[in-house]
Amino acid sequence: MGDKLQAQVISLWVATAGTTGYAPLDTDIDVDIAVIGGGVAGLTAALALKRAGQSVAVIEAAQVGSGVTGHTTGKVTSLHRLVYSELAGRHGADTARSYGQANQAAVEHIARVVSDEGIDCGFRRVPNFTYAETDEAVSLVRDEAALAARLGLPSVYTPDVPLPFPVKGAVRFDNQAQLHAVRYLQGLARAVDGAGSFVFERSRALALRDGSPVVVETERGSIRARDAIVATNVPFGDKGSFAALCILHRSYLIASRAGSAPLEGTFISVEEPMRSILAVDVDGASYVLAGGEGHRAEDSGDTAERYRRLAAFSRDRLGTREPVFRWSTQDGIPVDGLPYVGLMSSDSTHIHVITGLRKWGLTNGTAAALILADTLCGRGNPWARVFDSTRAARAEGGSPAGHSVPIPPGPQQAAPDQEDTDAPMVPAPGEGAVIERKGEKVAVYADPAGNLSAVSAICTHLGCTVEFNVADVTWDCPCHGSRFATDGTVIQGPASTDLASRPSPFKR
Ligand SMILES: Cc1cc2nc3c(=O)[nH]c(=O)nc-3n(C[C@H](O)[C@H](O)[C@H](O)COP(=O)(O)OP(=O)(O)OC[C@H]3O[C@@H](n4cnc5c(N)ncnc54)[C@H](O)[C@@H]3O)c2cc1C
Ligand code: FES
Repeated sequence: MGDKLQAQVISLWVATAGTTGYAPLDTDIDVDIAVIGGGVAGLTAALALKRAGQSVAVIEAAQVGSGVTGHTTGKVTSLHRLVYSELAGRHGADTARSYGQANQAAVEHIARVVSDEGIDCGFRRVPNFTYAETDEAVSLVRDEAALAARLGLPSVYTPDVPLPFPVKGAVRFDNQAQLHAVRYLQGLARAVDGAGSFVFERSRALALRDGSPVVVETERGSIRARDAIVATNVPFGDKGSFAALCILHRSYLIASRAGSAPLEGTFISVEEPMRSILAVDVDGASYVLAGGEGHRAEDSGDTAERYRRLAAFSRDRLGTREPVFRWSTQDGIPVDGLPYVGLMSSDSTHIHVITGLRKWGLTNGTAAALILADTLCGRGNPWARVFDSTRAARAEGGSPAGHSVPIPPGPQQAAPDQEDTDAPMVPAPGEGAVIERKGEKVAVYADPAGNLSAVSAICTHLGCTVEFNVADVTWDCPCHGSRFATDGTVIQGPASTDLASRPSPFKR
């Protein structure tokens, strides 16, 4: 058993951003473009389209910034660990160059939007480093630095890495940036809403029909539009094809009060366990973020131990005090290494998607949004082909090749009633357990005071059984990554319906 985890379970960005108050959609409206999802991809696309003269409606299931973007690290950079060596090796230098150009253009786009729209989001120019601690890793960063420079990116190799522990060398990209992710999104939303365009919160898309027009339905209103963009991170309305093309990967972050001299730059390690570092001042308080402990969404393991390892790294190597905030989130890693933007499937006519942002979506999501905005305005975009969402289906003649994903069960079989056989254990305070009760799986949570609440354990997406995540206090689906609060509310899709409430199987 390790130390007790003290930090609040909320992201630094969500905790310090304040709330937005856009009304839910409660009527039927007509616009040029419907955007589903108020994260970086959706709001960036919406603003670019509005600026190009289109009327836009964004619907966000919860609040602007409540998704993955609100739980990011906050690095705005085209240096994504060793991405150029990876992409050049797999697809050739031209594809690596396109990826780099699109992401570097995204860094500059974000800088311009922050300035044009006067967004107060702590946007700060910093160098970004991928650092090596061993001789073997130094040769990797030397190669990455040289390759990225040849591709035209602002890259150098340096032995001088401003970290408070010994490091052998790093790739450094100059003039990169960091920002407060939720304040940035709130600024985008302010710029989108008004003059015939809209942002609606607490408005979950429940159905989406392709055609002319496209129709998006929510609980209390609908949008008719020429085109729709699905920017829900894990695509809403997709029946699993992108799940086969993207590995959903979760990572963990802690924010601790800084202990000593501020760090100048943002950092990520080459070696495993991968560690990501960023220092930031928010409202006069200095924090250091340490991230890592990534794994496929279905392989959570001991989540509390993951936070303890990050806290030990932050304390021992970065000299921070105890963590104040901790959180986790997940993103799609595309199997061929490139994000997906374009038509939802080769059969779609007016439904478009942005997904597979490979944990670098502040820039990949911005780049993808700008590509889509160009496409929808009839303008060419030099990077559209490399990011094309239908490339796998085209290559395979219609059936995309991907990785295998856990297969949801068929209709739930009546299971033996454990209540009548082995008496299930009541979860300890702060824990949860899936119990079989009268042939139904029920997810039971005991709050820290021991009060029990129960919801159906069957994920409302495609029917897998959820599992309890003890460190984040959520019910997580191992199949395609949906996450639910203990009262059953959807936190993250693709599920769009809450887990139904159930009576507790235990009498107290
Ligand atoms: C731990 C971690 C750290 C990261 N750090 C960085 C970083 O430092 N720099 C970087 O560039 N990238 C980083 N990333 C990646 C980046 O944060 C993501 O790629 C990006 O934020 C994804 O944006 P999005 O718009 O696709 O998704 P989201 O921000 O999740 O937006 C989608 C929105 O859609 C809403 N939604 C879902 N379903 C529906 C529905 N049915 N109807 C209406 N709305 C719906 C959700 O509520 C959500 O707000 C990190 C990723 C992880 C996992
Ligand atoms: S079955 Fe797909 S996310 Fe749960």
